[in-house]
Amino acid sequence: MRNKKGKDDKRDAQLENAAADQRRRFLKQGGALITGAASAGLAPGAAAQGLAGQPWERVYGAGFTGYGQPSRFELPVVRHIGRPYGDLAPGSGAALSPIESLEGIITPSALHNIRNHSGTPDIDPKQHQLLLHGLVTRELMFSMDSLSRYPMATRTYFIECSGNSNRALAPQPAQVPAGAIHGNISCSEWTGVPLRMLLEEAGLRPEAQWLLAEGADSAHMSRSIPLEKALDDAMIALYQNGERLRPEQGYPVRLLLPGWEGNTSVKWLRRLKATSGPTHTKDETSKYTDALPDGRALQFTFEMGVKSVITKPSSTMTLPRPGFYEISGIAWTGAGRIRRVEVSSDGGSTWVNAVLAGEERSKSLVRFRLPWEWTGKAAILQSRAADDKGRVQPLRKEWMARFAPDIRFHNNSIISWAVAADGSVKNVYV
Ligand code: CO
Repeated sequence: MRNKKGKDDKRDAQLENAAADQRRRFLKQGGALITGAASAGLAPGAAAQGLAGQPWERVYGAGFTGYGQPSRFELPVVRHIGRPYGDLAPGSGAALSPIESLEGIITPSALHNIRNHSGTPDIDPKQHQLLLHGLVTRELMFSMDSLSRYPMATRTYFIECSGNSNRALAPQPAQVPAGAIHGNISCSEWTGVPLRMLLEEAGLRPEAQWLLAEGADSAHMSRSIPLEKALDDAMIALYQNGERLRPEQGYPVRLLLPGWEGNTSVKWLRRLKATSGPTHTKDETSKYTDALPDGRALQFTFEMGVKSVITKPSSTMTLPRPGFYEISGIAWTGAGRIRRVEVSSDGGSTWVNAVLAGEERSKSLVRFRLPWEWTGKAAILQSRAADDKGRVQPLRKEWMARFAPDIRFHNNSIISWAVAADGSVKNVYV
């Protein structure tokens, strides 16, 4: 919890919600400030001295740049890169978002999580085309220019890899930042063409029930998509956070299936084929199935579960001293909206409702916050999300009992961070 003072200084004055009220009560009681708080008192005369002028106030500033970059002091904020095959396949694996360093609900495009099966292709948008074929009355081929002429929609959606949090299934809890375990999730504002519009133009034949979606990467990563989803809220995305998609996010065009496991939102989309049933591609038979204790496996488990994670404080951070802290984290559900996030500081014995920001958006990240006074005793912090379909984030042991021991997908169980008496925060299994 570093830079607490700076954070308080920048606190949005419009944040007139329950958290602010609770915090004001904290401050009125005075205890928080005395025992160590967020802001530091100044000796007489120190304020004027502090404004004497820093070196950057005495020299002319830098010129304009065509494409901006974060402050050099923020250079350590980078994705957590996992390369399971090492140099043999450096572009296969995942780069997880550093959620422990971010706030709000939008992930900067440059820090969005990535899951690539065969690296990021270097696609010339003038050469790339999207084919719509199969059980349609007329096949259509779209250039990127022609796609850009359709009416577009803009929505805020999260994308979570269904393998997110699989590292939390290791026998021992990893002592790494939260994003290195749970950061295969991000949220952007996406703009593109509703897929329904293109399917209606092509004309679906009555036998059409599924789509095959195929990417233009060298793995031709492909998934089968039920037509019902394609006609519901599926988007042919061209823009992310106001600019064209990043190459690692599918430039120049990707499928986007809100709330569904990330790899169904096929990147570098080159083909959609209407079919009568699922194609059973290599990517949905060798992977992305969920083994059960009795030896069977679930296939086509698309919707991501209701889930939350406390990002501050979280694993590997240190609380410098007892006093007031704001617990902050993200929650999401593939079912629609987050209805409630509860926070526990005693390992799940008691729970308090957190304040939510962004919960009016369906299938978006939601930010939750709760003021907390750390008394200096050992504590276990947990968050538990519930969605508008009444689903509640399960306990880790409840979730583990549902699947075979080698399960790797859809881990949405409750995440626990232990705060020790010395202020160190560790990843623990509860
Ligand atoms: Co699944």
